[in-house]
Amino acid sequence: MESFIQYAYVAAAVLFIFGLKQLGSPATARRGNLISSSGMLVAVVAALLSQGIDYTWILIGFAIGGAIGAAAARLVQMTSMPEMVALFNGFGGMASLLVGTAALSPAAGTFTLVTIVLSILIGGLTFTGSLVAYGKLSEKITSAPILFGAQQMVNGAIIAAILVSAVLFCINPDNTVWLVLVVALSLIFGVMAVIPIGGADMPVVISLLNSYSGLAACAAGFAVDNNILIVAGSLVGSAGIILTQIMCKAMNRSLSNVLFSGFGSGKTETTEVDGEIKPISVEDAFYVLEAASTVAIIPGYGMAVAQAQHVVKELTELLEGNGAEVNFGIHPVAGRMPGHMNVLLAEADVPYDQLLEMDDINPRMETVDVAIVIGANDVVNPAAREIESSPIYGMPVINVDSARTVFVLKRSMASGFAGIENPLFYKDNTRMLFGDAKESIGGLVREFGS
Ligand code: TAP
Repeated sequence: MESFIQYAYVAAAVLFIFGLKQLGSPATARRGNLISSSGMLVAVVAALLSQGIDYTWILIGFAIGGAIGAAAARLVQMTSMPEMVALFNGFGGMASLLVGTAALSPAAGTFTLVTIVLSILIGGLTFTGSLVAYGKLSEKITSAPILFGAQQMVNGAIIAAILVSAVLFCINPDNTVWLVLVVALSLIFGVMAVIPIGGADMPVVISLLNSYSGLAACAAGFAVDNNILIVAGSLVGSAGIILTQIMCKAMNRSLSNVLFSGFGSGKTETTEVDGEIKPISVEDAFYVLEAASTVAIIPGYGMAVAQAQHVVKELTELLEGNGAEVNFGIHPVAGRMPGHMNVLLAEADVPYDQLLEMDDINPRMETVDVAIVIGANDVVNPAAREIESSPIYGMPVINVDSARTVFVLKRSMASGFAGIENPLFYKDNTRMLFGDAKESIGGLVREFGS
């Protein structure tokens, strides 16, 4: 039986890795999800076949947790997905904390004690950090960074106290006071680490906490000597940190800038921009689009706010029916979560091969007749290339200003997440189509129909 369980673990690990690979493209992501989930089923069944397990509480937990999970997954809005992921990470952390605690025994050697402390420590801070991230994203608590004097010194002192308690516990495991201190301080540290970060940076924090939940699970795997928990935890840990890196790189910010700078605390740049705003009406925009043979659509956070994806798909079909080639330019951090635009456009059945990544659409931009910017702002801001003093200078952006004509669909002259002016709006070839994106695009669709 033992070797059967180990073979099943190897099969599960292979399924995890193939599933992860397929998650790399929107076209195969659903299959990837299914393959990884099957791997998890194999792993759970194999783990439960271990001898001496009392199934009563497992079945009760399975029934309650499964019902809550299924209901939550069905009821959650697509825009609330990051909040749900935050909660899942948090519970993953708490699970590792509990597994670590359960692994305590008088026979535990130093290595096991260290892994127990790590699973408790990382699991605890992941739990409370994720709850704060959830609160900020859902605006149940203020999403503004909470900053106070000597904050980093206080956090440093908490880390030092956690380390001292952890070492003292490993040296003297009979004195559980040290372990209780590790638990309490880790829970406090999770809160303290996340409160100084602004709500809009929460996707990065959630990805990082996701990585931590994996590390906690990996440590718990060592504590209870379970190979598949070690493998799954390492995969989550590394995948989470890679995604965190990708997001930071796409924003041209370092991880320490995201974690410690209090970005979004109201300090905004006020660069004077030359040129004037040229508004355009839906009717005039329609005439230009009717004559266009290549159109690039660049969606951003505003498309998610307006829930304009379905009407955008309708417009795409009308433009194609009119003989135009239409592509979408997807910036890696457009919106507020990784893959935000891909998910919305997939919901509206936009074919995957029409979605071009930033590096693929930028070289084509000069041949584009009309670039339609739908609720995107920072990700198309040419200040990132042109203004060295800009906070987003150096961030890779989609160069819509190279297209012959640019339509920017937004409601006002308000800035985007980064809180900075956008010189794109003042360029000679830019026309501002003011209004809610869904209504403006709906107007264009009606013009095509009439
Ligand atoms: P933003 O720069 O945030 O701009 C969104 C624009 O949408 C706003 O200027 C807003 O202008 C407009 N808008 C809002 N509601 C609208 C509606 N109903 N109809 C039409 N327009 C609407 O968005 P972006 O270009 O997608 O950039 C994303 C930002 O988030 C970047 O700065 C990125 O670094 C940051 N960020 C992203 C992520 C991920 S993983 N995606 C993670 C962390 C941070 P009005 O108010 O005038 O309409």
